[in-house]
Amino acid sequence: MSSAAEVFARADMIMKVKEPLPDEWPLLRPGQIVFTYFHFAADRALTEAVLASGATAAAYETLRDSEGRLPLLTPMSEVAGRMSIQEGAKYLERPQMGRGILLGGVPGVAPAHITILGGGIVGANAAKVAAGFGADIGLLDINMDRLRYLDDVMPANVDTLYSDRHTIRDQLARADLVIGAVLIPGAKAPRLIERADLALMKPGSVIIDVAIDQGGCVETSHPTTHSQPTYIVDDVLHYCVTNMPGAVGRTSTYALCNVTLRWALSIANLGVERAAQELPSVAHSINVMAGEVTNEAVAHTFHLPCSRRFAAQKEGHGC
Ligand SMILES: NC(=O)c1ccc[n+]([C@@H]2O[C@H](COP(=O)([O-])OP(=O)(O)OC[C@H]3O[C@@H](n4cnc5c(N)ncnc54)[C@H](O)[C@@H]3O)[C@@H](O)[C@H]2O)c1
Repeated sequence: MSSAAEVFARADMIMKVKEPLPDEWPLLRPGQIVFTYFHFAADRALTEAVLASGATAAAYETLRDSEGRLPLLTPMSEVAGRMSIQEGAKYLERPQMGRGILLGGVPGVAPAHITILGGGIVGANAAKVAAGFGADIGLLDINMDRLRYLDDVMPANVDTLYSDRHTIRDQLARADLVIGAVLIPGAKAPRLIERADLALMKPGSVIIDVAIDQGGCVETSHPTTHSQPTYIVDDVLHYCVTNMPGAVGRTSTYALCNVTLRWALSIANLGVERAAQELPSVAHSINVMAGEVTNEAVAHTFHLPCSRRFAAQKEGHGC
């Protein structure tokens, strides 16, 4: 098959990475299953197109395990967290407009100080890679159990710190590189750095706001793309790419398929209806079916009715 039109016309089930593009919307068919990231709540036009098509949308981002975790989001956070340090190291180089700092320093010269806001999956992966470089790291979170765990497992060059306004401002004055990695599930990212705070930072320091896909945790962040990833505000370089894993597509694709394939096989082998009846995780993943919204958050966002289909399967599973 050589064209998207041919693939959409022949396939009963399509597995993708990103949501269907506007060119693909007219190609969707009633009963066809699309298993991919949709992020419907951020895109009314996409939601309306999928509803009108009659296709079934099984979304990676809402597939829930029995403990309420979202396992198909994890690999992308792992990739973005590790990559944030790689990108930060690059943009701290002088030719990239950074301060001209080597993360690990050298004998006789201090390493870079890195502040990581949020110690979840992105933050922990960033800290691990940064520690390997020999940088000096402050890792901030508001969840004390999480901080206790991180304190246990992180190397000695990672200090765990409770995230409050005073500590954040203190860290900003020291940081060469700041990583924004906070998340409040289902909500916009909390704004932890105001524009006025940039004056505390050293000229040429770098902010990588990984949380930009949820609005960002820095007042001066706005979404960027890989073709133009950075911009400067008040002498601080900002990197705010919403789809960081896209730059390392080979690693990201393997990482994603490692966790999606078993669910895709279940849907393909059982059919989507039976898979959702038998596997509550699959029931959670279905956002749209036969012209109806089946996910409460999506229905709530667009003031649409929410179908009770699969409500029994979802009840008590991972909630
Ligand atoms: N830009 C990209 O390409 C990309 C890729 C993957 C993930 N992300 C985004 O990165 C963000 C983090 O994802 P994650 O998987 O690590 O989430 P996570 O839920 O694992 O971790 C978030 C952490 O933030 C902490 N937190 C909440 N409020 C805080 C505060 N005020 N101060 C400090 N910490 C606070 C939470 O306690 C939690 O530990 C999300 O917004 C996610 O969508 C972006």
